Amino acid sequence: MSKNLIIYYSRKGQNYVNGSIQELKKGNTEIVAEFIQKAVGGDLFQIETVKEYSADYMTCTEEAQEELRQKARPELKQYLEDISAYDNVFVCGPCWWGTYPMAVLTQLERLDFTGKKVFAVMTHEGSGQGGSEKTLKQSCKGATVGKGIAIHGADAARSEAQVAAWAKKSV
Ligand SMILES: Cc1cc2nc3c(=O)[nH]c(=O)nc-3n(C[C@H](O)[C@H](O)[C@H](O)COP(=O)(O)O)c2cc1C
Repeated sequence: MSKNLIIYYSRKGQNYVNGSIQELKKGNTEIVAEFIQKAVGGDLFQIETVKEYSADYMTCTEEAQEELRQKARPELKQYLEDISAYDNVFVCGPCWWGTYPMAVLTQLERLDFTGKKVFAVMTHEGSGQGGSEKTLKQSCKGATVGKGIAIHGADAARSEAQVAAWAKKSV
């Protein structure tokens, strides 16, 4: 049986939901990452930055834009160093200015993806999958990039059936 790894970044707190700022107790991407695990099994790994982003939504968007501009690789609280035990890697993240938060790249660029199948999972407020698959092709050296999925963040909690069907077809 193939082994799955689900890597995710997710930011709880203030976020933009269907046109207004709301307080999320659990991040949208975390909800989706857990649906994947429930559907196909595997290990979850959460990417967490040492320096926290602002709780204020607008300030956070500015911080994220600056990191994108600088091609920053923010320091993480813990790193995955070895993924040799896995066959499939789901890379889950919110769309930040069109692609993954830079912290996701900090993690991906440390890993050897030779022979792995990777899937982009992006939650968003309108940008769909954004550049997530392109980013995986650039950052996951040696991997085959399968067909990813985009989930509207505001619908994350209602996306279980869609996410589960996609994940089961993917592995
Ligand atoms: C810093 C920042 C930048 C964002 N940029 C975009 C964007 O470019 N396109 C988009 O559709 N949504 C954007 N969003 C909305 C998030 O992608 C969306 O709310 C996502 O579901 C949040 O996931 P999370 O709760 O797991 O962090 C942005 C949100 C933040 C905080």
